[in-house]
Amino acid sequence: MSSDTDKIIIAIDGYSSTGKSTMARALASTIGYRYIDSGAMYRAVTLWAMRHGLIGADGSVDTEALAAALPAIKIDFAVRPDGSQLTTLNGEVVESAIRTLEVSAHVSPVAAIPAVRHALTRMQREMGATKGIVMDGRDIGTTVFPHAEMKVFCDASAEKRASRRLLELQAKGENVSYDEVLENVRSRDYIDEHREESPLRCAPDAVRLDNSDMTKDEQNAFLLSLFHNTIARLHANG
Ligand code: DC
Repeated sequence: MSSDTDKIIIAIDGYSSTGKSTMARALASTIGYRYIDSGAMYRAVTLWAMRHGLIGADGSVDTEALAAALPAIKIDFAVRPDGSQLTTLNGEVVESAIRTLEVSAHVSPVAAIPAVRHALTRMQREMGATKGIVMDGRDIGTTVFPHAEMKVFCDASAEKRASRRLLELQAKGENVSYDEVLENVRSRDYIDEHREESPLRCAPDAVRLDNSDMTKDEQNAFLLSLFHNTIARLHANG
């Protein structure tokens, strides 16, 4: 484990369902850092918009009403006794409610709204103010923390990612087909890469990780070794 003076910011970005959250959480737990799932924050805003009728049957979002409501949307993370985190929306635990396919289907357009991005970026920077944080998302190394000391960009084939996501959804009892999940993965990739505000990009100084054929243990070992190398490099540079 690192000493407090060594504490850095670790940004883990990449495509959906690349296992970023799992590996970011494992790394944070091993090195004693706080883990923040920024995607959960976009999902929580989406859930709030769905519950308040701001997403139409055609999937369109009432952008103005949502932007006006942002000050009333409080997102935080409660910590379970085992150290894992539960997303809260205005004090209510919404960890399961934000992981449904319905929320997944609406989250990308919500995450493309500049006012939403600005509000969440501000909250994320506050969470990282004291460093010692592992945050995963799409724009953490490019926009939220462009000076993060360690940046990783994850990728894997869309088919591999859809298979992983399908297993997760089936384990939760959701009745979805592989084709539906693959379509959702592809459409989210497209929106994430093509939105005007903070599109999904690999930061020039990020280390790329294609985990299509890696086990979880291999990923964890890769990240831990990168962390130790980063700390050693920072020490060497004074
Ligand atoms: O990682 P995830 O699938 O839970 O993210 C949900 C959505 O939120 C995803 O479609 C992209 C968006 N997102 C984003 O735009 N920026 C982030 N930093 C994190 C997530």
